[in-house]
Amino acid sequence: MKKHRDKEVVIKVEDLSISFSTDHGRLHAVRGVSFELYRGEVLAIVGESGSGKSVSAKTIMGILAPNGRVEGGRIMYGGEDLTKVSEEEFHRIRGKKIGMIFQDPLSSLNPIMRIGKQITEAIIINGNKLKLMYEDLIYEDNVAYRNALTKARGEIDTSAFQLRNLKIENKYKARAIREDKSLTGADKRAKLDELIEQIKAADMEHRALTKRIKAEYKPILAELKAKLKVAQKKAKAEVKAYHNELKAEYKKERDALRAEYKATKNVERRKELRASLKKARLDYVDKTRVTRQVAHDMAVKVMEEVGIPNAARRFRQYPFEFSGGMRQRIVIAIALIQNPDILICDEPTTALDVTIQAQILELLLRLKHERQLSIIFITHDLGVVANMADRVAVMYAGRIVEYGKVEEIFYNPKHPYTWALLSSIPDVDTKERLEAIPGTPPNMVYPPKGDAFAPRSKYAMAVDFIEEPPYFQVSETHFARTWLLDPRAPKVEMPKIVSERIRISLERAGKGGEFNG
Ligand SMILES: Nc1ncnc2c1ncn2[C@@H]1O[C@H](COP(=O)(O)OP(=O)(O)OP(=O)(O)O)[C@@H](O)[C@H]1O
Ligand SMILES: [Mg+2]
Repeated sequence: MKKHRDKEVVIKVEDLSISFSTDHGRLHAVRGVSFELYRGEVLAIVGESGSGKSVSAKTIMGILAPNGRVEGGRIMYGGEDLTKVSEEEFHRIRGKKIGMIFQDPLSSLNPIMRIGKQITEAIIINGNKLKLMYEDLIYEDNVAYRNALTKARGEIDTSAFQLRNLKIENKYKARAIREDKSLTGADKRAKLDELIEQIKAADMEHRALTKRIKAEYKPILAELKAKLKVAQKKAKAEVKAYHNELKAEYKKERDALRAEYKATKNVERRKELRASLKKARLDYVDKTRVTRQVAHDMAVKVMEEVGIPNAARRFRQYPFEFSGGMRQRIVIAIALIQNPDILICDEPTTALDVTIQAQILELLLRLKHERQLSIIFITHDLGVVANMADRVAVMYAGRIVEYGKVEEIFYNPKHPYTWALLSSIPDVDTKERLEAIPGTPPNMVYPPKGDAFAPRSKYAMAVDFIEEPPYFQVSETHFARTWLLDPRAPKVEMPKIVSERIRISLERAGKGGEFNG
């Protein structure tokens, strides 16, 4: 994997854009988001409700809602672009290499299934070792074929999606034309005809593209499919031979033990032989699949790891017998049992009270250190970020507006939106928010021109309403999209009230000295 300085990049999101098709038109939920996640770090993604945090996370997990679409960009993981891989391949990655935990631990658990079973389910399902062997053997050919298929379908789907959106857009335009009192009947007809022509043309273009893509991919797909068939046949034979070998070995051992058992009258020896027979059987099964016993032991171990007391007994209980905090630990255990590289936590503690929240955060930090786990930590509360994160991405209206190390974001924030977020951190004692952020986020069907935060910012300049600010580099690791960093901008310091607030919350978090120097 690629290295950045001495850091190993585990996942790299590049210029990711996601939109949803809605009744009101196309909603641009994520607009060109880029970030890297390093091995063994916590990257916090913070921002108000609706800024696109969950949508970004779900896209990485491959669970974007059906009306959503990746418009552009890449998600590079293990040398592959997750936005382009097929369902089959994603299956191997999702839940296995990338785990996700959500806000409400109860809704991620099945209320009528014992906790232990919920933890072991995935390893038992994925534990058919012969099937895994088969899948490994055909892996390359399978992925090549599936990915080509996905790519071909993707191009057609994108075109169909655009056509559908055009139709929705034109429907609204048509309504506006019909209601426009300044137009004559003839004008209206002409304009409506124009819209119809536009759709006709787009429709034809879509058909032509579909035809072209099908023709283009046909020979490639046929070749890949033929190769896959050959590989499947070969793999099947190989797995069968291996299985037969295992069976023969086991039978040989079993028959020898049985023969001796029949021949001997010694009670002690017979007892030993019965135990050996049982062990031989278990060893054989163990080579073909993950046994219940092995899964049970793995589950109890991971339950202990996430801090569940009496794990062996708790294994047999139901979710309702656990407190909220313990349930969230179970959810984390379910994610961990597959030994993931990356854990995405979407508001994992919002539903918990403060003490429990602190314990779960501590657990996540411990897992980060012990497992070298990379964590994407999503929250709307900058308050918890100071303790948790190594780096922070601040999101607003589908974009990352500031990105840097946690101390840079807390000690030297540059974007007025980050200032606003910092000043809205609730006071630990009074629970009062110092300053609510005025106004509301924009409607993402019509993303604003310029700096999306400008209408809510008292630091907005004329240019903010016209042109979108680029990323200005503050340090080697710190970036912010605000015209305030342009050399031509007037010098604006962050408000005193914000810096004071930051100082207090950092002191509370025990980071007062840590960030200096
Ligand atoms: N399936 C969907 N269809 C239409 N719009 C959607 C869909 N899912 C999300 N959105 C929209 O995408 C935008 C980003 O949503 P997202 O869930 O990522 O917000 P968020 O930052 O996670 O907010 P929160 O803090 O409330 O969880 C919002 O405007 C939301 O309404
Ligand atoms: Mg969310």
